[in-house]
Amino acid sequence: MSISMKDEILRRLLAANGEAVSGQELADTLNVSRTAIWKHMQGLQEEGYTFETVKKKGYILTGVPNSLSPMQIELFLNTERFGRTIHHFDVVDSTQTIAHKLAQEGAPDGTIVIGEEQTAGRGRMARPWESAHGTGIWMTIIVRPDVTPQQASSYTLVVAVAVSKAIKALYKNVEPAIKWPNDLLINGKKCTGILTEMQAEADCVQALLVGIGINANQVEADFSPEIADIATSLRLAAGEEINRAALVATILQYLEQYTEIFVKESFTSIKKEWEQASCTIGQRIEVTTIRERFEGVASGITDEGVLQLRQDDGTVRTIYSGDVRI
Ligand code: BTN
Repeated sequence: MSISMKDEILRRLLAANGEAVSGQELADTLNVSRTAIWKHMQGLQEEGYTFETVKKKGYILTGVPNSLSPMQIELFLNTERFGRTIHHFDVVDSTQTIAHKLAQEGAPDGTIVIGEEQTAGRGRMARPWESAHGTGIWMTIIVRPDVTPQQASSYTLVVAVAVSKAIKALYKNVEPAIKWPNDLLINGKKCTGILTEMQAEADCVQALLVGIGINANQVEADFSPEIADIATSLRLAAGEEINRAALVATILQYLEQYTEIFVKESFTSIKKEWEQASCTIGQRIEVTTIRERFEGVASGITDEGVLQLRQDDGTVRTIYSGDVRI
């Protein structure tokens, strides 16, 4: 992918790590006029970057915008396909809705839709998903894996593993646990939800719409009273401001890698990592499905990611979809 002049200037300012970068040197090495450099600097300022201008020395980058604009994400992106097409919006109803439409229009594998805010963010079982402006990561990835609809049902567990890996890679003191099928919890509270929807024909998947909602920079007061006791954010857990763009790029990197394993080898190759990160297996749990409620011990998952519940009478029940309470 070609890098624009503005991106290149930004890259150099970031690489200078707080030191001044000379405008003349930028102009000379990029083979443009000082006026052109100045214009690009103004463009960056309009996007929320801030600078100090030091006489005879040049520009020092003093602040980056808290935004998930394509440019911010691309700065950290190290993937082949995932995130190489980015649709970024300030306010959307739901990134899932937009992604469905884009997928039908033929959007390529790995396309992402990101909203700074969602007005009708939705979760599993048609629950609403709080998506306040600029605080979290509200994104849908369009994935086109070469698998059958039946095989695709375990992909949502693959996503949980990839997101958990990305969080651990960036925040060493944060240890997310996966609650079956795919919630990420930190200290028992939810920080990430995943909603995977599918466009398919009888025997072939057209697209998976992988919705990922991550509470990134919320403080406790940002959560509504309805979820204040059960929700947490990465910032609360890590004790530092979360660079959302870096996290998005890292998630895309792990997800591309794990998707390749999933398609080539199936979920079986990832199952162990899911089990290691899970806080469900071996626990006494309560499961609510659309029609019924069961209690028992989560004894394991199958090679397809289906939950096995050992009930008190010794029978093992197979749970394809439901809500787990530990
Ligand atoms: C859940 O835990 O119930 C799943 C929550 C999924 C939320 C994400 S945010 C981005 C995408 N857009 C939506 O409307 N929902 C998903």
